Amino acid sequence: MEIGILSTTGGKQLATLTVDPSSSLKELKTQIHRLKPYLHPGRQEFRLEPRSKGLEENKTIESIGLKNHSKLYLKDLGPQIAWKTVFLIEYAGPLIAYAWIYQRPWIFYGEEAVSQPMNDIAHVAAVCWISHYAKRILETLFVHRFSHATMPLRNLFRNSAYYWIFAAYVAYHINHPLYTAPCQMQSYIAFGCWTFCELGNFSIHWALRNLRPAGSKERRIPRPTKDPLTYLFNLVSCPNYTYEVGGWVAFTIMTQCLPAGLFAFAGFYQMAVWALGKHRAYKKDFKDYPRGRKAIIPFVL
Ligand SMILES: NC(=O)c1ccc[n+]([C@@H]2O[C@H](COP(=O)([O-])OP(=O)(O)OC[C@H]3O[C@@H](n4cnc5c(N)ncnc54)[C@H](OP(=O)(O)O)[C@@H]3O)[C@@H](O)[C@H]2O)c1
Repeated sequence: MEIGILSTTGGKQLATLTVDPSSSLKELKTQIHRLKPYLHPGRQEFRLEPRSKGLEENKTIESIGLKNHSKLYLKDLGPQIAWKTVFLIEYAGPLIAYAWIYQRPWIFYGEEAVSQPMNDIAHVAAVCWISHYAKRILETLFVHRFSHATMPLRNLFRNSAYYWIFAAYVAYHINHPLYTAPCQMQSYIAFGCWTFCELGNFSIHWALRNLRPAGSKERRIPRPTKDPLTYLFNLVSCPNYTYEVGGWVAFTIMTQCLPAGLFAFAGFYQMAVWALGKHRAYKKDFKDYPRGRKAIIPFVL
């Protein structure tokens, strides 16, 4: 059978493919790549209508209801970059920026600053920040099983700017010679909470890893495992975000630093938007999705 491939922008005919009804959309992407070498499969997205949702590439022609001479729209997602590269750049940036500013470079604080005493909490904060991003890099390399191999290159600049600028902003204030920490009791209790949230965040990432067989793109209903830190799955769909936000709130209380609070708030806003989207998708995709779970904040949101 023949399928016409049209561009989502302007409806221009890009190609006419001769396919088998059992061919997957992934195979169609390969055919298009052969005809138009600049359209790497990673930057192609098929849609039934120019503005409808992208189709999963493992779907077959017949399963999406196409017949002989049907039309399929192709969205060019633009140049792509591997997710792992993205995450490494995004996470190595804030780690390096913080570690550099922690040295009190003259360019930020002047020549004298390096010899002035540093508050103990500024040292603890540096350990927290650097170990958090080192953890994320290691998880990206060895724990996460992503379903998308690539993402649009343009997102890299936006995401990296967010992390790099916030890292420099927070580091500048906490490592400043005039920085004053709160009382030790407050800082050390908050440090305990921060450690708890980091462990919780890792436990959830580990549980999500084990939910997806290696090499697959399967998405299942996440449930608590034997690890008590995963019990939060009983209350929210994205407990890794809950722990992440908890960690940054604890970091803010530990340092009592306003820029850290702004970073926690910005992260919360972004993760809440994502969590609500994921929560909606779970409820739509799984009819037996546990009722009563919220998206990110137990009992609230
Ligand atoms: N501070 C901040 O502003 C900020 C913002 C975002 C993230 N983060 C941190 O970065 C971490 C990772 O972020 P993320 O947005 O990638 O988290 P995520 O969407 O929860 O995904 C984590 C990993 O689990 C997989 N996964 C998720 N749900 C699954 C399911 N139901 N079945 C099987 N696999 C599933 C994901 O695969 P897919 O590729 O299929 O999604 C991904 O590999 C977060 O937990 C958080 O700690 C921080």
